Amino acid sequence: MDKLVIHGPTKLKGEVTISGAKNAAVAILPATLLINGICRIENLPNISDVKMSCKILEALGAKITWITENEIEIDTRDICCTQAPLEMTSKFRASYYLLGSLIGRCGIAEVGLPGGCNLGARPIDQHIKALEALGAKVDVAQGKITAKAKKLVGTSIYMDIVSVGATINAILAAVLADGTTTIDNAAKEPHIVDVANFLNTMGADIRGAGTDVIKINGVKELRGGTSYSVVPDQIEAGTFMLAAVASKGNILIKNCIPEHLDCITAKILEIGGNVENYDDSIRVSMNKRPSKAIVKTLPYPGFPTDLQPQIGSVLAIAEGTSTIHESIWESRFQYTFELNKMGAKITAQGKSAVLEGVKLLTGAPVYATDLRAGAALLIAGIIANGETQLYNIEHIDRGYENIEEKFRNLGANIQRVTEPDEN
Ligand code: EPZ
Repeated sequence: MDKLVIHGPTKLKGEVTISGAKNAAVAILPATLLINGICRIENLPNISDVKMSCKILEALGAKITWITENEIEIDTRDICCTQAPLEMTSKFRASYYLLGSLIGRCGIAEVGLPGGCNLGARPIDQHIKALEALGAKVDVAQGKITAKAKKLVGTSIYMDIVSVGATINAILAAVLADGTTTIDNAAKEPHIVDVANFLNTMGADIRGAGTDVIKINGVKELRGGTSYSVVPDQIEAGTFMLAAVASKGNILIKNCIPEHLDCITAKILEIGGNVENYDDSIRVSMNKRPSKAIVKTLPYPGFPTDLQPQIGSVLAIAEGTSTIHESIWESRFQYTFELNKMGAKITAQGKSAVLEGVKLLTGAPVYATDLRAGAALLIAGIIANGETQLYNIEHIDRGYENIEEKFRNLGANIQRVTEPDEN
């Protein structure tokens, strides 16, 4: 297994280029199953979740040609199978998108119940509600979900909870349905807009993505025949913004969309950081200890839950006592136990954490419990005094492309070390 060995403290300085968005890519790839044709997808992040998505699509009959490590040509004219390989999908949260795309294309889908980060219960009742509203019969048994429909018929769907995945799945299932579908109380994340833009480029008719009411006029077929570039990753950009603040550094974050990060910018200004927005880049600098803050995670455009651990690493060393309220996931504070091994003073209880700021963290062996916790601990290792060994970095590799190289180019003393497997 790999680990990262980090020596700190370092002030991060320089430029970093943001990759394509993981949470857009893992939806756009299954969305290609709706296309009876060939298309090209550019700016794919070179991460294990994308590789896994491509393996699943090939198992279903798609033909994929890698143009570069960030660009593919995909031919989905001959989808021969509607049963996604259970051993693959059960490890991979975003595999639920195969439900919407396979039932939209073939009228039947069989997918393993999704795995993914351990953030607590990850129900899919809203996904099922949307598919049933469109006329599908959905069964959940033996660890898999089967959805069948002779023909999906457009309808109105009111989401009981704002859900990124359920909103995207409803869009996927509605694109080729008979008639018009309206999704109310839809999620508004940038990656939802990106999936809608991709599908519209391929011939779909989706309006209102990015607002809480999305309207989809069903079309007969998507023919593809063109290319699409994945949107820059809002969460990766936010991760580097917070790394600049934590390390009292100065980073120009290139290839990002500043307005996707307005909430992070506001919080950074609040705790004493400096932010300069440009057309497709943001400069973040910090020359003092951050002030305390109150953070509450909310659906977009609120503070993203996927940046909650990262700001936890910032507030762990802030002046005063901060609080974080995690309103999306029931268990997203495991990283605080790891930060406490580095000298942080954080008390996490249920969906809230109290962070009593300390002057300095000290390096220690720590374990990534999920993708964003791993990013938070990497930042902590960079600002801590001494050596940090960060284990379970396969979590980080799921969602961050060339993470140690990007941080090394900003001055971090960080090495990837491959440890022999215990057994
Ligand atoms: C997506 O997960 C992201 N994953 C997550 O990012 C992110 O944390 C989350 O959205 C919120 O922004 C991908 O896009 C692959 P939700 P998703 O449905 O779609 C409840 C990362 O680090 N809910 O928006 O699974 C759910 O329990 C990952 O990149 C239901 O109750 O999240 C949660 O409390 C981690 N029923 C809330 O809604 C449902 O049917 C939001 O979940 C669906 C969700």
